[in-house]
Amino acid sequence: MEFEKLIRERYSCKKLKDTPIEKEKLGRILEAGIAAPTGCNYQPYKLWVLTGEENCRVMSELTKYTFGAGTFIVVGADPSKAWTRKYDGLNISTIDASIVATHLMLGIHDAGLGSTWVGSFNAPEMKKRYPEMQDQQRNVEPLAKWFLCLQSGQKHRMGFHPVLNKNADLLCKHCSNLHLTYFS
Ligand SMILES: Cc1cc2nc3c(=O)[nH]c(=O)nc-3n(C[C@H](O)[C@H](O)[C@H](O)COP(=O)(O)O)c2cc1C
Repeated sequence: MEFEKLIRERYSCKKLKDTPIEKEKLGRILEAGIAAPTGCNYQPYKLWVLTGEENCRVMSELTKYTFGAGTFIVVGADPSKAWTRKYDGLNISTIDASIVATHLMLGIHDAGLGSTWVGSFNAPEMKKRYPEMQDQQRNVEPLAKWFLCLQSGQKHRMGFHPVLNKNADLLCKHCSNLHLTYFS
């Protein structure tokens, strides 16, 4: 899909279907995710694809934001494997995980599917249910940071992104030669 179209048309789809996603399509989406850059190229992220009745049931216990999806991608990044800025100790695992999740989200839209990025879920409980999602050092900070739920089939637009984007409005004010009529 053409880039401008992709970024303009993507939205958080909050009414999803649990139709299975073809392996080939899922593969392309995951490839978009792992093409993401990471700090120092340490690639501290991990991805888990959850499907099937049992996983869907667990996910709906961990969050109310499943939107009826049948496929979930959990994105994690291990702080012990991520770059840390020496000046103030900032660990960038969450930043790395977010870039991967963003690539995935755009890959999902490009594949003709919908998704919503979900941050509000019981991450500590998720680690208990899926022990492989704990980081190497069993830190309190969960490795599982985000997940995206995907759907195939009908999309239901609920995003208000263009009207709510206050930062974009700011951008317009400060970059007078940028023509961002999309947000006006
Ligand atoms: C880091 C992050 C966390 C989010 N967590 C949730 C969530 O827990 N539940 C939810 O319904 N939407 C969640 N969203 C979706 C946002 O609400 C949505 O992206 C935003 O309203 C803009 O809408 P748009 O994606 O359609 O442009 C999250 C988005 C981001 C980027």
